[in-house]
Amino acid sequence: MKGVILAGGTGTRLHPLTRITNKHLLPIYDRPMISYAIEALVTAGISDLMLVTGGTHAGEFLRLLGNGHDYGIDRLLYSYQDRPGGIAEALGLTERFVDGEKVVVMLADNIFELSIRSVALRFLDQSEGARVVLSRITDPAHLRHLGVPDIAEDKKIRSIMEKPADPPSPFGVTGIYFYGPEVFEVIPTLKPSGRGELEITDVNNWYVRRGLMDYDIIDGFWGDAGESIDAYYEVNDFVRVHGANGIGAVNSAIRP
Ligand code: DAU
Repeated sequence: MKGVILAGGTGTRLHPLTRITNKHLLPIYDRPMISYAIEALVTAGISDLMLVTGGTHAGEFLRLLGNGHDYGIDRLLYSYQDRPGGIAEALGLTERFVDGEKVVVMLADNIFELSIRSVALRFLDQSEGARVVLSRITDPAHLRHLGVPDIAEDKKIRSIMEKPADPPSPFGVTGIYFYGPEVFEVIPTLKPSGRGELEITDVNNWYVRRGLMDYDIIDGFWGDAGESIDAYYEVNDFVRVHGANGIGAVNSAIRP
């Protein structure tokens, strides 16, 4: 299975910090944000990766990551997104790299407390379709910033709503997505949303409508460090004490 890390976009919600660098290069505790997404995939056994970025600081990723070997990556390829046309558009740039295999897509501002390895293994066993990862969120105001699934009584996802005013369930769709190779036939059929982007939620609903979407509900902390400046600091505080990706805090002196 190939891995794609998406680190484009404008990061406007973290202005003015993101006027001087790419959001995914900002620190989370003692490392640049992007390194947590890489660690999540590498520790899940996915080490053939493509990083998509854009904007004026793209070259800094090369300086940080190089060929990726220091991060446990076997092969690291890069792609450049000319304008922030959406998560699905950025994924579309990786078609030749994915080359007919299954693919896991990770948003580089997402941080998971625990390893996603078991989810990746379940997707490798899944015969067809796609898989999303849900996190239980108790605050409805938070859910209004996320994709939220409507889950039927038979536990199947009925649809996913992007940033719903009235969230249909207490689950947020996290920024890690698993797809079969047909995803690259879905992307060209999408129309830009109200915010002018090709939405990953529209891709996910394509699978939902066909009964091809499965999901996991994960335990542990999940944070989107790009959601707001407060979310950015919440993620920082969490990682400083507990670590991420099932690895635990680097500095055991600050563990509770
Ligand atoms: O974090 C989870 C949420 O991520 C999901 O619950 C939502 O369903 C999903 O739409 C997404 O929402 P956001 O509004 O947080 O997406 P955002 O525009 O912040 O983009 C997230 C990441 O995707 C960003 O850190 C980099 C990448 N990206 C985004 C855009 C718009 C790109 O690589 N290119 C882009 O054009």
